[in-house]
Amino acid sequence: MTEIKWWQEAVVYQIYPRSFQDSNGDGIGDIPGIIQRLPYLKKLGIQVIWLSPIYQSPNDDNGYDISDYQKVLPEFGTMADVEEMLQVSHQLGLKIMMDLVVNHTSDEHDWFKASRKTKNNPYRDYYIWRDPVDGHEPNNWLSDFGGSAWTYDQQTEQYYLHIFSKKQPDLNWDNPVLRNEIYDTMTWWLNKGVDGFRMDVINLISKDSDFPDDPNVDAVNHASSMNFVANGQHVHHYLKEMNQQVLSHYDVITVGEAPNVTTADAIKYAGFDSNELQMVFQFEHVEIDNSPEGLGKWSDERFKLVDLKRILSKWQSALDGKAWNSLYWNNHDRPRVVSRFGNDSDEYREKSAKMLAVTLHFMQGTPYIYQGEEIGMTNIALSSIDHYQDIDTRHAYQDLVVDQKRVAPERMMQFIHHSSRDNARTPMQWDNTVNAGFTTGQPWLTVNPNYRHINVNQSLEDEHSIFHFYKKIIALRQQLPIITTGRYEVLDLEDNDVYAYKRVDGESQLLIVSNFSSTEQTRHYQLGQQAELLISNYEDDAGDLLRPYESKVYLENV
Ligand code: GLC
Ligand code: CA
Repeated sequence: MTEIKWWQEAVVYQIYPRSFQDSNGDGIGDIPGIIQRLPYLKKLGIQVIWLSPIYQSPNDDNGYDISDYQKVLPEFGTMADVEEMLQVSHQLGLKIMMDLVVNHTSDEHDWFKASRKTKNNPYRDYYIWRDPVDGHEPNNWLSDFGGSAWTYDQQTEQYYLHIFSKKQPDLNWDNPVLRNEIYDTMTWWLNKGVDGFRMDVINLISKDSDFPDDPNVDAVNHASSMNFVANGQHVHHYLKEMNQQVLSHYDVITVGEAPNVTTADAIKYAGFDSNELQMVFQFEHVEIDNSPEGLGKWSDERFKLVDLKRILSKWQSALDGKAWNSLYWNNHDRPRVVSRFGNDSDEYREKSAKMLAVTLHFMQGTPYIYQGEEIGMTNIALSSIDHYQDIDTRHAYQDLVVDQKRVAPERMMQFIHHSSRDNARTPMQWDNTVNAGFTTGQPWLTVNPNYRHINVNQSLEDEHSIFHFYKKIIALRQQLPIITTGRYEVLDLEDNDVYAYKRVDGESQLLIVSNFSSTEQTRHYQLGQQAELLISNYEDDAGDLLRPYESKVYLENV
C-alpha cells in the first residue's frame, strides 16, 4: 500500500432516508429530518454518510427505481434541502456519498417511456429488448425478486429485461450514448458537491449479448439469475471508462455493490491500481446462512462461526496490499446484526452488539455502520405478511407460498422474521415518546415496539451504552494508524466459539479476542509484558476466562 487515503481511515454511516427522521408528520423520513440529526452523527464521530436514494421515484423498490436522476423525491424534500444538507454536512466535516442506481431505472423514467414506444426511436437502445423465442421469454433468467426477468410489452411485441422488478428495466450499457448520459449525471452531482458514490449492483451492468440460458435456474426453487449475470465481459472496460471520464477528476469515495465476486474479482474492481472503484461490497459473509434447500436467503439457519471466520479471513488476507476491503455487518437489505450474528435477548443484546462492533471495526478496511446499529436495534417479527412493505418479501411470499406452494405459510413467516429487508427498515428509534420520536404521524412501516428501552436518548444518557462504545472505537481508529494499516492474522481458525485475530505492523500489534457464545470459554493467547488493554465490553479483565460475548483488544509494542 502506498500513501493512505482519507477514505481508508474513514468510518461510513448509512442513512436509509425513509426510516431515519420525519420532519413534517407524514410518516416518511425526509431530508430536513436528516439535517436536524447531523449533529448526532457528528457526535458519534463518523466521517462519511452514505445516503440511500433520494431521487424521484415511484417507490416500487423504495427509491432503487429512479425516474429522474436530477430531481428529488418530493416526499423527501426539495433540491434546496439537498443543497442545505450538503452545506451543513460539510460545515461539520461530514462527507456525503450518494447512492447511484444505474444498472436499471424505473419504468417511469422518461428514457423508458420513450424507449417502449417504437422499435426505432433513439431511446430504444437505452434498454435491453429482445424478440420472443417460440412465443416465450428470450431465455430462462429469473428476477431477483422472483419470476421471470423478462416482461412482454404489447406495444412493440418484444420483451425487456429486468433483473429486479418489472418496474426496474435494466439499462443497456453496451450503448455508448447511454453511458455518456450516466457520466454526465455523475458529473452534475459531483459539481453540486457530493463526495462520492455507492454504486448499486454495479457488477451486473455488462450482460452476455448472446443471452444464454442460466444453467443454475431450477424452475421449482426461488433462484435468481443475478449471480449468473454478474461480472460480465465488458464490466471492467465500462468502469475504467467511468473512472477516466468522471471519477478521476475528483477526490471522492466509491464503493460498488457486487454480488457474486471472488477475491480475485474484487482485486480487479478495487485494486490499488485498477482505476475503477475503491472498494466493493462483497456478499459472501451475508449469504452465510442461506437456505440449504435452494431458497436463497429465505431460511432460518443460524450461521457457524467457523464459516464466518473462514470467509472474513480469506477477504482480509487476499486483499492485503492489493485492494481495500469494505467492512459491514448489515445494511438496508440485511437483517439486524445483533439479531443475526449476536444475541438480541435482554440479557445479551448490549454485550453482543459491542462484541460485534469490536470484531468488525478492528479489521483492515473501511467500516460501514447501518443506522440504528450503533444503539443495538433488533429485528422485528410482524404477525402477517400484510404488514410487510418490502417488495422482495412480498414477492417471495407470493412465489413460494401462494404460487409454488413450496413453503407453508407459518414457516415462511419464520423465514421472513429472520431475513426480510424490513428488519432493517423499521423507523430509527430516537426516544421513548410515541413512534420513537421518528414521526408525529402514522409511520410508513411499523416501529419496533422495543423502542421504549432501545433508543438514542437512552443511549446518549448511559455512558456504558452501545452508542458510547461505538464512539470510542471510531475515535481509536483516528488515533492508532495500525487499525487502518496493520496486517491481519487469524488465530485458531477451527475454534467455533471464539474469534481471535491479530493486526501487525512494524512496531506494534493488536490482539482482538471475541467470544461469540453465551457461555464462558477459557483460552490462552500469548501476550507480551507490556500489553495494554485498549478496549473491552466488560468492566474488568479476567485474563484467560472469557465471559459470554466478551470482547477485548490488547495493544503491545513488539
Ligand atoms: C441493491 C439494493 C437493493 C435494491 C436492488 C435493486 O441490491 O441495495 O435495495 O433492491 O439493488 O436496485
Ligand atoms: Ca416527512
